[in-house]
Amino acid sequence: MNLISVRDLTREQIKEIYSLVPKYTETKLILQLANRYIGLIFEKPSTRTRISFEVGIYQLGGVPIELSDKQLQISRGETIKDTANMLNCYLDGLILRVNKHDTILEFAKYLKIPIINALSDKEHPCQVISDIYTILQYKKISLDDLAKIKFVYIGDANNVCMSLIYISDILGMNSTFIIPKKYQPKSLQVNNKNVIITDEITAVKGADVIYTDVWISMGQEKEQKKRIKIFKPYQVNSKLLNLAKPDCIVMHCLPANRGMEITDDVLDGKNSIVIKQAENRLYVQKALLVYLFSH
Ligand code: CP
Ligand code: NVA
Repeated sequence: MNLISVRDLTREQIKEIYSLVPKYTETKLILQLANRYIGLIFEKPSTRTRISFEVGIYQLGGVPIELSDKQLQISRGETIKDTANMLNCYLDGLILRVNKHDTILEFAKYLKIPIINALSDKEHPCQVISDIYTILQYKKISLDDLAKIKFVYIGDANNVCMSLIYISDILGMNSTFIIPKKYQPKSLQVNNKNVIITDEITAVKGADVIYTDVWISMGQEKEQKKRIKIFKPYQVNSKLLNLAKPDCIVMHCLPANRGMEITDDVLDGKNSIVIKQAENRLYVQKALLVYLFSH
């Protein structure tokens, strides 16, 4: 099956994926993807996602094949349709990081093999599926108790944020999203009334988890000046952290713009779990791959 949006998965499916993770954390080589050839097209830079997927595929006995979009005939005008029809002949799956979400949707129209969104301008599903697993691990709770903790995201309503909103809806989380008015998502369809969107920074009070991401995502560089001005009050710093619970964990998908959305002392401080958060991408994505390839 495909993973284009985190909304492609139900709560039960996410639960099942999480139940697989310990197996892929403890044992390094489990050849469940033997003889599977998985293409990776990355139109944007990546450290964590690309490496964790490549290593994960190797550890599962599969073969990751990096397909730079510049080396493909796509760069000379071959259509996505014609490219996808070729990939169907050679590959068993495709992982895509794209500038425009529509590119993934266009590939999905013609691909007969599983397709995985490794970040688009709209969503970052693999990131948040892994992040919620990390929260359960750190808070030592099960999925059923997730609603008991207060999750707070502060910053821009970007791809990571949107996936966090959707997964909060799917999992019935108690989630507050603190976003400047002008940047809040326009039309949002969520059923969970405990998903709150506000521009009130004090809403961070009592948080068990604070999560932030960059104010200027890849592709938004031209808006840098304007954005820094508007987002400045939304910085995760020690003053903001003091409003949260003392054992609040601080998360960031990384890469961080140190001194912008998060200060050095908080990113490197005792509440920060960002390194473990990134490490878990490897384990959770292995479970995710096995799940997607068998459904
Ligand atoms: N968090 C994340 O997706 O990082 P990369 O851009 O390095 O893959
Ligand atoms: N919102 C960020 C996430 C990077 C992993 C971006 O799109 O640049």
